[in-house]
Amino acid sequence: MGALEGRVAVITGAGRGLGREHALLFAQEGAKVVINDLGGAIDGSGDDRSPAEQVVDEIKAMGGEAIANADNVADWEGGQRLIQSALDAFGDLHVLVNNAGILRDRVLVNMTEDEWDAVIQVHLKGHFVPTRHAAAHWREQTKAGKEVKASIINTSSTSGLLGNPGQANYGAAKSGIASFTQIIAMELGRYGVRANAIAPAARTRMTEATPGLGDIVQPPDDPAKFDVWNPANVSPLVAYLATESCPATGKVFFVQGGTVRLFQPWTMTETIERSDRWTVDELAADMPKLLNEDATAR
Ligand SMILES: NC(=O)c1ccc[n+]([C@@H]2O[C@H](COP(=O)([O-])OP(=O)(O)OC[C@H]3O[C@@H](n4cnc5c(N)ncnc54)[C@H](O)[C@@H]3O)[C@@H](O)[C@H]2O)c1
Repeated sequence: MGALEGRVAVITGAGRGLGREHALLFAQEGAKVVINDLGGAIDGSGDDRSPAEQVVDEIKAMGGEAIANADNVADWEGGQRLIQSALDAFGDLHVLVNNAGILRDRVLVNMTEDEWDAVIQVHLKGHFVPTRHAAAHWREQTKAGKEVKASIINTSSTSGLLGNPGQANYGAAKSGIASFTQIIAMELGRYGVRANAIAPAARTRMTEATPGLGDIVQPPDDPAKFDVWNPANVSPLVAYLATESCPATGKVFFVQGGTVRLFQPWTMTETIERSDRWTVDELAADMPKLLNEDATAR
């Protein structure tokens, strides 16, 4: 029996790249899958239903169950239709993988309002909208007395959690997604919903288009060697987090090749303190204790 037998999953941005790999593995492990993808270009422009439909065909060809959905995850009604499509087709929903994403890389001094808005919209709002509609369903189920064992897996990035120049829009959205994950894990636990995030590293059109990374992510010349950048390496962690009995919640994991690492959340370290308000001069004298601590921590 597959690890996801009986689970119904919505995977956003599943027509290509990482989402496609998640969908194929989920189906292999027995899940019924909604393949969401509006099929846009890497910058989010345009739409093309064929990538999502091809993944559905692949899943059906291996004996699995899947449907395609072409809604924009950042659109309120679109996100509602997406969640409803799982309920209509498969009668339930247990897993939401928020994965859809775009890139509009630019150094801050050249970044346009549109480049900022588009990236924040697709990633941050595109995580919020499907999550909000799925959470409403799970709350309803809990209130009706049903035991919910649901899982949300979000997609963050080291570009945000560790920082990457040229990606202020993308990095801000991806750090926001990590915080969003922590907070929804706190809020939705009472409805039987766990939430975690991954920060993946893999070969997709996104990394192939990233200056300096395009060559690094290519498969090894020797096919016997482990292809560390293969996007399929990321999906087993996502599938594990989607299983009914997985205990993890509120966590963020880096995942690449055969490596899974737990991120430490934002945390406070050294303190300077006095029993009265600081003056600027006093802070100037004492702050190096904190600043030097920060320098050694890096
Ligand atoms: N590839 C990496 O190494 C890497 C690293 C860190 C984070 N990520 C994140 O992983 C996720 C998947 O990226 P990928 O590398 O597979 O890229 P990708 O471009 O291959 O896949 C992203 C998919 O999302 C779809 N999409 C975009 N906007 C959408 C929208 N509004 N509604 C529905 N679908 C939409 C696209 O059509 C595309 O098929 C993204 O969130 C990305 O930021 C990837």
